[in-house]
Amino acid sequence: MCGIVGYTGKREAKEILIKGLKNLEYRGYDSAGIAVLDKNRLKVIKRKGKIKNLEELVSKTSFSGSSGIAHTRWATHGVPSDKNAHPHLGCKKRIAVVHNGIIENFESLKKDLLKKGCKFSSDTDTEIISHLIERNYHQNLEEAVRKTVLLLKGSFSLAVISKDEPGKLVGVRLDSPLIVGIKDEEKFLASDSSAFIEDTRRVVYLKDREIAVLTPDSVKVIDFQGRKVSFKEELLSFSKEEVKKGVFKHFMLKEILEQPKVLEKILSYYLKEKDFNLKELTAFRDFFKKLQKINIVACGTAYHAGLVGKYLMEKFLNIPVEVDLGSEFRYKQPTIRKGDLLIAISQSGETADTLAGVRLAKKRGAKILSICNVLGSTLVRESDKVLYTLAGPEISVASTKAYSAQIMVLVILSLYLAKLRRTLPDSLINSYLNLLRKIPSCQLKIVKSKDEIRKIAQKYLNFGAFLYLGRNINYPTALEGALKLKEISYIPAEGYPAGEMKHGPIALIDEYRAVVCIANNSSVYSKMLSNVEEIFARRGRIIILATEEDEQVKKYSRQIIYIPKIKEELSPLITIIPLQLLAYYIAELKGYDVDKPRNLAKSVTVE
Ligand code: F6R
Repeated sequence: MCGIVGYTGKREAKEILIKGLKNLEYRGYDSAGIAVLDKNRLKVIKRKGKIKNLEELVSKTSFSGSSGIAHTRWATHGVPSDKNAHPHLGCKKRIAVVHNGIIENFESLKKDLLKKGCKFSSDTDTEIISHLIERNYHQNLEEAVRKTVLLLKGSFSLAVISKDEPGKLVGVRLDSPLIVGIKDEEKFLASDSSAFIEDTRRVVYLKDREIAVLTPDSVKVIDFQGRKVSFKEELLSFSKEEVKKGVFKHFMLKEILEQPKVLEKILSYYLKEKDFNLKELTAFRDFFKKLQKINIVACGTAYHAGLVGKYLMEKFLNIPVEVDLGSEFRYKQPTIRKGDLLIAISQSGETADTLAGVRLAKKRGAKILSICNVLGSTLVRESDKVLYTLAGPEISVASTKAYSAQIMVLVILSLYLAKLRRTLPDSLINSYLNLLRKIPSCQLKIVKSKDEIRKIAQKYLNFGAFLYLGRNINYPTALEGALKLKEISYIPAEGYPAGEMKHGPIALIDEYRAVVCIANNSSVYSKMLSNVEEIFARRGRIIILATEEDEQVKKYSRQIIYIPKIKEELSPLITIIPLQLLAYYIAELKGYDVDKPRNLAKSVTVE
């Protein structure tokens, strides 16, 4: 949520900052701004709306400088507007600040600053930071920043420049990501390394309570007590091509189509020819053998992957699995305790509610295994063990490839645990592993029929509400299909377990209701078909997902999406593909900004 970019070097800062913001726009897009040190004044330009609005204004304004900061905003305090956009300045306009996160005690700090005569020009919590730094400033920017952050409560990452120390850029991290980029005589700061990947892959992941002090030629890191701390330089594992849209109209389509490749990568990373390759988990083998129950915590799409994980683990391991949304887990009385395992699932590794769940479980003595896509993320650092989803950067706000990657990792993990705990015979585990290797080609087959799915999207475009029905391990698929549609097309959509229809939702069905039924071959196929029959009888407008060669379903609809035959337990890896494509095409045909749906941001770093 919100994207920060900072630069100090020899080149024109505004160009590098705008390029960085464009790469971070998925993090927030209600307003944006930049501040560049132009000779001895801070030139600040801010604009409501998308980054292209800011870019236009910057291109019409004459200024120049080789250090600066920039921000793309997802509003928390104060409506999206020019005045609330970052950067914010102090009264004397000597300090400029951009901020990601929330300052929880900003009201009392603001009251105090008002009493001292400070004049505020925005409604944000951030502006108090620039005023405080300016007041604490005595010819040493890092010291002024350090004194200020000690006064702040909440979560934040900051980038700060001062007109009195040209070329110096200070960054702070507390519960919100911030990464330093290093290139010969240039240094970068960003919420996500995709901001500067075109310039460098050398990075330092700041830890919580660290302050980076950058000049074109140097990197220094201190803690909140002012002590110098050592840092590790790492190399990014992805390339700049991966953050480009290429020939695709939207990142979302590119990412949906990438899924077969992602799954192949996961298979070759975590499986050997006839066995598992999970060295990461060796030290946990004894702990895994003794487990009595498993907890899973995640949010949104990752939560739906967690629900699939529950079905798999309960079936393969025969132990109870509780799945909670991070935002609920953190405030309930969780039963988790010492000796339990918490699996945290997150694409970004920065989701505030998931992290809060992890911290709570840790406090109670549970071990944390995370399934995460982002190297160096907070979740990865706070976990005992990590299984990476290896999906590469996911730029579209709506998560697609991360979802099937999470499920693939969960299937492999469940089978690995079944082998370790001897809850499934080896022959069955091997047959699952062989089938898993076929999943990428099954996904590819569906992806190839995307034009057919687009035609269905065209027919269903104007329905005012959608219902998605599934059963058993494909109930989470129904939830995820509905989430995809609502988040990018703004059509109300609900996922339901088909067996629950009679307990209320069937009242919704008439000829104006679109109903997507997941009726692949499975242990609940005939039950699902009875539910489809009930929808049909009430003239609901049905789209059916069925297994190739299923003739029976033709009775209910002409809108049939056929998927390859696969064992039920593995089917969520392929049933989700047509639902992602259906949602994508409906939103695309409606002309929406698919990759940046309104009100959303990719990485939910605030509660
Ligand atoms: C939906 C979506 C969100 C995320 C959720 C968790 O398409 O992207 O629901 O899945 O915000 O994010 P991560 O996985 O980064 O923890």
